[in-house]
Amino acid sequence: MRAKIVVDRDFALSDLDRRVFGAFVEHLGRCVYGGIFEPGHPTADAKGFRGDVMELTRELGTSIIRYPGGNFMSGYNWEDGVGPVEARPKKLDLAWFSTEPNTFGTNEFVDWCKATGVEPMLGVNLGTRGPDEAREYLEYCNHPSGSHFADLRRSHGYEQPHDVKFWCLGNEMDGPWQIGAKTAQEYGRTALETAKVMRWIDPTLVLSACGSSHRQMPTYGSWEYEVLDHCFDQADFISLHTYFANKTDEIDEYFGVIDQMDSFIKEVVAICDAVAAKRRSPKRIMLSFDEWNVWYKTHKIEHMRKPGWPEAPALLEEIYNAEDALIVGGALITLMNNADRVKCACLAQLVNVIGPIMTETGGPAWRQSIFHPFALSAKHGQGRVLQAKIDTPTMVTKAVPDMPVLLAAVTDDPATGQTAIFALNRSSSESLDVEIGLRGFGPNRTLIEALELHHPNLKASNTKSAPNTVVPRPNADVTIEGDGLRAKLKPLSWNVIVTKAG
Ligand code: AHR
Repeated sequence: MRAKIVVDRDFALSDLDRRVFGAFVEHLGRCVYGGIFEPGHPTADAKGFRGDVMELTRELGTSIIRYPGGNFMSGYNWEDGVGPVEARPKKLDLAWFSTEPNTFGTNEFVDWCKATGVEPMLGVNLGTRGPDEAREYLEYCNHPSGSHFADLRRSHGYEQPHDVKFWCLGNEMDGPWQIGAKTAQEYGRTALETAKVMRWIDPTLVLSACGSSHRQMPTYGSWEYEVLDHCFDQADFISLHTYFANKTDEIDEYFGVIDQMDSFIKEVVAICDAVAAKRRSPKRIMLSFDEWNVWYKTHKIEHMRKPGWPEAPALLEEIYNAEDALIVGGALITLMNNADRVKCACLAQLVNVIGPIMTETGGPAWRQSIFHPFALSAKHGQGRVLQAKIDTPTMVTKAVPDMPVLLAAVTDDPATGQTAIFALNRSSSESLDVEIGLRGFGPNRTLIEALELHHPNLKASNTKSAPNTVVPRPNADVTIEGDGLRAKLKPLSWNVIVTKAG
């Protein structure tokens, strides 16, 4: 099969916000305890941060990390997690039916982010609490000194403010499973009042309101509209969440989740702009896709809670395979191609809990299959996203009647002169001969890297004993031709091709 990609240097869609390569750390299962934090682990530093996980997080290339939840956020008292560790209370966490030891909290998280080189994103509890708790938490984190909560932080050993910019106004507040779930009217008003006081303390904040928990929620659409109708003037972002499932165990059908993600984004953009239109406002609400990943193998109740209120039980420990990596690669292409409105996104989560990184408590850490498309996208997806004109054969699926076989995004970094092509061949039987036209970039390009992620067994996965089963390998079928390229993409392969001018 043949396909064609054409981009022109003068036709950029948008700058690509680095925050699109974010991830998520929740007090859930072994994400914090046994994941990023494990005092006594052979690689742990003096603060108990696992060095192997930190190293893999850097390699993953994640830019911003959301914390402390998730569902956990809606019952969390931030005060429980600061101050002398011996004085911190152990509490029941009703989100995940676990016991929360609170030996890791906001200050440890900010320290971990600094040591890892990522931006922290925090959220305020709008489930059991409200604007009052939010303003106190923000005062603790961001106010320099001279007030009760700022001085409390200083007394805890943090003289300088944390200066956290990006804040979530609650989590999935439309979900009946949420502690303190709300109607759109209740939440929209609370979000407005919370955002208002937060901005009064720190006008430089970036604030994200909760969209629907997922696209299948009964109130989807009307929730976004009503919430924004209340808090449009104070919100910068609205959140989207999605977890992909391989419902029928047919790869063609599974691929449909990527197209649905694209529709989801475009629908939410339309709703945001409808609220703006009603107000005759030029303001554009941006999208924060702050939870997305594959999650279906560990989605039963027994994967989500263990009896006896354990501390850090093994929950949601999804093992990812080769086909899941293709889905994640395709989703990243979709996020890049919506870079004009998706300015933030968080792979959920980072480690152990539906994570690209797996650890054994007391043992090693390794990369799951989905680690690779994420790391390569974060590494090479730099600069701006170009408007790609793609000619591709289509295939018929039940989910998407006219599914394009080739999905692709092209980024171009004027600072380095590098252009990266991300391409997914969704055909299960045929390779794709792709002609790539790079107009206006000049001749004499150099091929920097051509990698493919492909495994003949879609169910293959990386394990502790075989951590390099699903890994990217060089694609030798890529050549420079004129001012463009020609590439042969294997069936069911995700690819990245990087070239440089001159
Ligand atoms: O990421 C796991 C959970 O999924 C989060 O806590 C919640 O926000 C979502 O429903």
